[in-house]
Amino acid sequence: MQDEAVHLIDSVTTNKADFFREPEHFRVLRDMTLPQPVAGRRSSGPATIKFWSAASSTGAEVYTLTMVFAEFAQQRSGLSASILGTDISTEVLRIAVRAIYPEQAIAPVPMELRRRCVLRSRDASHGLVRIVPALRRMTHFARLNLMEAEYPVDTDYDAVFCRNILIYFEPPVQQEVLSRLCRHLHRGGYLFLGHTEPLAGFKLQLQSVASTVFRRA
Ligand SMILES: C[S@@+](CC[C@H](N)C(=O)[O-])C[C@H]1O[C@@H](n2cnc3c(N)ncnc32)[C@H](O)[C@@H]1O
Repeated sequence: MQDEAVHLIDSVTTNKADFFREPEHFRVLRDMTLPQPVAGRRSSGPATIKFWSAASSTGAEVYTLTMVFAEFAQQRSGLSASILGTDISTEVLRIAVRAIYPEQAIAPVPMELRRRCVLRSRDASHGLVRIVPALRRMTHFARLNLMEAEYPVDTDYDAVFCRNILIYFEPPVQQEVLSRLCRHLHRGGYLFLGHTEPLAGFKLQLQSVASTVFRRA
């Protein structure tokens, strides 16, 4: 894609991203999405759960996923997670990889998780925190344009988060983007959309399981 087109997309979309944004989704993740692959795969040895944040912005969604997973995995041995964050903007991806945020950004993170999942800078006057290495190691980030016809991403994700991006696309483009994303979920995998992005009218092999959460049939 030409640089001008990328700048145009950057100027019409926002990069707003918060930790634990739309918190109900993370309850669904913990209570419905996570137990399922674990129950299915653990009989055959250690299980890796795969998530994709398909418009990850500066990484808050990805690191929220690492925190929810870490809490879930605490009482269960032999579990690991692999979390891919992609975005069209290389600028936001640079921030995501560094994983350094202003202290106020982590205000929505529950206190217990904050203690375990972030490091404070020695000089408190900087007001910065960094996600701990153990969580950063679960993640990888790459530039990806969701409008491309194909992309080199695995096709066996347990959950794909594509939140607060579809609203910027026209309905026919939304349909194409969603159909492609569904191919990257394995059967029974979950798709999370933003709370203002219902699926009404689209032809997709998905069942609704909670508000703006869908399961690949
Ligand atoms: C509002 S943020 C959403 C962040 C996160 N998903 C959330 O809900 O908090 C939208 C992100 O989509 C990215 N974006 C815009 N167009 C895109 C495209 N065609 N492909 C991939 N990412 C895109 C923007 O760069 C921006 O970081």
